[in-house]
Amino acid sequence: MVKARVEAERRLGLTARGKRRLARLRPTKLSWLASVYGSDKGVTAHQYVDLYEQILAPHRREYTRVLEIGIYKGASILMWREFFPNAEIFGLDIESVEVPGPRITTLQGDQSAPDTIERLRALGPFDLIVDDGSHKAEHILASFAGLYDSVKPGGWYVIEDMQTAYAEKGYNGGPPGHPDTAASLVKSLVDAVNRDEIAPYYPDAAAALPRVAEMHVHPRVTFIRRGGT
Ligand SMILES: C[S@@+](CC[C@H](N)C(=O)[O-])C[C@H]1O[C@@H](n2cnc3c(N)ncnc32)[C@H](O)[C@@H]1O
Repeated sequence: MVKARVEAERRLGLTARGKRRLARLRPTKLSWLASVYGSDKGVTAHQYVDLYEQILAPHRREYTRVLEIGIYKGASILMWREFFPNAEIFGLDIESVEVPGPRITTLQGDQSAPDTIERLRALGPFDLIVDDGSHKAEHILASFAGLYDSVKPGGWYVIEDMQTAYAEKGYNGGPPGHPDTAASLVKSLVDAVNRDEIAPYYPDAAAALPRVAEMHVHPRVTFIRRGGT
């Protein structure tokens, strides 16, 4: 299957350079970029691209640093590079993955390990962080706890494939109400969105909450915009 695709791409002349030429025909259209690079964020699989485009397109030229956890074959890293023409794109994966080309840096590490989080923090602050890594509950929570502060005020932290919060096997999720999952994290952030309203009544509780300006909760994916100045 892979061999056939590689052969078809070779015949069609879709080398890395060819794909980039194709991508640049419609650099503002994420569904186009996803299909050129074969990202599963596109319309034929997870269908996240239209949401990303709606939320991120207005400021895409202002983005200078983007981090995605989970590189796999590099499809989304390549997609982001075209979509954010002025950004350095960083990718983290537990495997060693090379995605050659300008404005791309790949790192190897475990998204839940304190030393990896430290390395990533040193590269920030970021305009956008996407968690598309292991999707294991404890990994998502560790990355969020360590990296949310590395999002610039007004920037976005995105958690993909939230359905795994309900999958026990392989992801350590559980039924609705199960503690310590991405879903329970997102529910707790409703308080964070209302931080300023909570402050007059419970100042200490408000001070302990992260700064969240707004949240967009969609099926399987949540967008969290960092508040503060
Ligand atoms: C869904 S794939 C990423 C797909 C990619 N973001 C894209 O859209 O093309 C998930 C990746 O997360 C990586 N991964 C798994 N566990 C990880 C961990 N603990 N830390 C960092 N990356 C991990 C896997 O090796 C895999 O490449």
